[in-house]
Amino acid sequence: MYKRIKVSNSKSNPDAIAVAVSSDAKRTPAALRDVDKRLGGAIGDSLKRGEFSADAGSVSTFYPTTGAERLYVIGLGDVGKPVGGSTLNAWRIGAARLTGAADRAGIGSIALHLDGGKDAVEIARAVGEGLGLGAFVYDELKGTASGNGVKKGPTTLDVATDSAATRKAMERGLTIAESANVARRLAATPPNIANPAYLVSEAKKIARQTGLTCKVIDGKRAKAMGMGGLTAVGQAGSTPPAMIMLEHTPRGTAKDAPVMLVGKAITFDTGGYSLKVGGTMVNMKYDKCGGMAVLGAMHAVARLKLPVRVVGIIAAAENMVDTGAYRVDDVITAYNGVTIEITNTDAEGRLVLADALSYGCKTYKPRAVVDLATLTGGVVTALGPYCAGCFVNDDKLRKSLFDAGEATGERLWRLPLWEEHRKQMKGTHGDIANSAGRNAHPIQGAAFLSYFVAKDGDFKTNADVPWAHLDIAGVADVAESSDWSGLFSKGPTGFGVRLLVRALEQWK
Ligand code: BES
Ligand code: MN
Ligand code: ZN
Repeated sequence: MYKRIKVSNSKSNPDAIAVAVSSDAKRTPAALRDVDKRLGGAIGDSLKRGEFSADAGSVSTFYPTTGAERLYVIGLGDVGKPVGGSTLNAWRIGAARLTGAADRAGIGSIALHLDGGKDAVEIARAVGEGLGLGAFVYDELKGTASGNGVKKGPTTLDVATDSAATRKAMERGLTIAESANVARRLAATPPNIANPAYLVSEAKKIARQTGLTCKVIDGKRAKAMGMGGLTAVGQAGSTPPAMIMLEHTPRGTAKDAPVMLVGKAITFDTGGYSLKVGGTMVNMKYDKCGGMAVLGAMHAVARLKLPVRVVGIIAAAENMVDTGAYRVDDVITAYNGVTIEITNTDAEGRLVLADALSYGCKTYKPRAVVDLATLTGGVVTALGPYCAGCFVNDDKLRKSLFDAGEATGERLWRLPLWEEHRKQMKGTHGDIANSAGRNAHPIQGAAFLSYFVAKDGDFKTNADVPWAHLDIAGVADVAESSDWSGLFSKGPTGFGVRLLVRALEQWK
């Protein structure tokens, strides 16, 4: 698969030409007439014959006799009809499939003729995202049984497009996709490699590469500082837990209150003594996806040099079983002094987030907080693999995230969080319990977290800071490539990276 996708303006002698048509196209669209002439009328012919469907996100291949070796026709489906919540998804999915088709054909250049009209710039960006997401493979661990020695095609794909504006937008889309792929690669890395210590070293490496500041609170210091949640969850892990802070402070913003992103990064979730049974432990390497989304978003924020101060906090721990592991009935104290009665060691994500959120609110006094976590199986039951559950206490933040969700196709659905839910979490011998039965399962997670979010870190008054909790348990990975109509290969999606970047780009 391509290591790099490069955007250029040279359309002479490409290996392939790609065009996009909607389902109702019966003749060559006006904007494609020139290129059709060059191809000896291949586009018009294929449309007239109607031998292919222009289903949204499909890619059909033709072999014209002149002009180019290959013609790829991307189907756009019914124009204006959203796919997976976003009208741009047909372009994204088509572009992702295009990368795959080009790779299989072993070609090195494609000239894109995208008749985007007034939406040309947004479309170019979506195509950039799709091309980039389609280029993701995680094959570092494939061994001798996976066809070593097969001839590999070019490692760079040149994509040419018309105007300077669409080139720029496409490059931006590619950059954001690369950041999503950083998150996906780490998410896919198995737990015997990607333990908390590994995430620390990767975060430092990314900070060095992108100009972010990276600070780490290691396991020992976390314990000494009173981070009882991170400590308890991580104390049986193969390496100690860690709190990782990434800071993006553009010139002149050092005094600004930052936007704070917080992510759950459980490198493997066995459930602890409340062990995951009956096959539910499989894929629990993806329990670090919230943290990896934060890492990916910070990567993009730095590379795009967004003019807003952003802090990312990743709470990294491994939830294992061992003599020294934490137990049910333990009572622990979080960073802000709230005591927590453990009723289920499998409700561990909220414990590491308790420290990340309260430490972050106290230290950075953020103007807004967004946390992402594969927090509950309940959200998967409730909403399925199509959207993340969103809990948000502020209308401006809600709008910003939902708009970003619609633009990127990373959809959100709002769930309630009321005082009743907070009361449900009250403990018997501690302030609160980490799990309270089966009622309102995904909401319990949000209600629990609310005890650790406060404006200016003032937990006495518990004044609200704009805060959103995104439960991404259903969307962090796809079980089948078809789950998202082919935008993703089986495995992690990087959900949250494109969403957060989009929201931060439009931040006022
Ligand atoms: N990591 C899981 C949530 C999860 C489940 C993510 C399925 C992805 C797919 C989380 O730590 C967990 O185990 N949650 C429990 C909470 C319960 C014990 C209160 C759950 O959802 O069952
Ligand atoms: Mn768990
Ligand atoms: Zn978990």
